[in-house]
Amino acid sequence: MLIIAHRGASGHAPENTMVAFRLALETGAQAVELDVHQTQDNELAVIHDFDLKRVGRPKRRSKIKNMTWDELSKADVGCWFGKKFKEEHPPRLEDVLSLAEGRAEVHIELKAGSRIYPGIERRVLDLLRRRRALDWTPLSSFDHQALFNLRALSPQARLGYLLGATPMTRAYREMAELKVESLNISRRQINARKVQTAHDKGLKVLVYTVNAQQELDGLAAMGVDGVFANFPELKPS
Ligand code: G3P
Ligand code: MG
Repeated sequence: MLIIAHRGASGHAPENTMVAFRLALETGAQAVELDVHQTQDNELAVIHDFDLKRVGRPKRRSKIKNMTWDELSKADVGCWFGKKFKEEHPPRLEDVLSLAEGRAEVHIELKAGSRIYPGIERRVLDLLRRRRALDWTPLSSFDHQALFNLRALSPQARLGYLLGATPMTRAYREMAELKVESLNISRRQINARKVQTAHDKGLKVLVYTVNAQQELDGLAAMGVDGVFANFPELKPS
């Protein structure tokens, strides 16, 4: 079972920071997950929320899409987790790719597509092509139009379908159209029947976010292919 360090080793260090990704790799994680937004000046920034209210200090209301990279890159996104992380700033997608290349897959979640971030799909793909990273960077999104945009731009991109509130019938239809390789689904939505159906359709099943040993073991018994975990040292018993 693939253990994917969710936002890096985010149980031990501030999420989506270089220290969290380094820690995940040091733990031996074969894969890390991160979230991507786009700044006003088109930089691909690794952060989960659409603004800095939750993890940023000083607290700011500005949306990432209205900030320049220069402004965002100066934000402290570590202090909320612990004083010793006060020097952590949001990385660029490219920084995490440089760190992980040759060591781990990078599962890239686009928090929104062109509807909010014009051109983000093309920009991510250009970066991955330039870095020859398409093979080790599965792309996912709850924004299914973003997945359609990615697929239209790249037949080779590895795609994962984040289910969200989409009904299963429609989801399976879209997953087939998109030629995704995985159904990415919440621990609250998964069950043995869904795992079987997805496998019958040739899809892997990746479950988020799993932090308890007992739950991990239950999912392993169901045949789940991978989990997003804040504690990447977890292993099925
Ligand atoms: O990609 C799995 C998971 O990261 C989706 O939810 O909110 O943690 O980005 P979230
Ligand atoms: Mg995510």
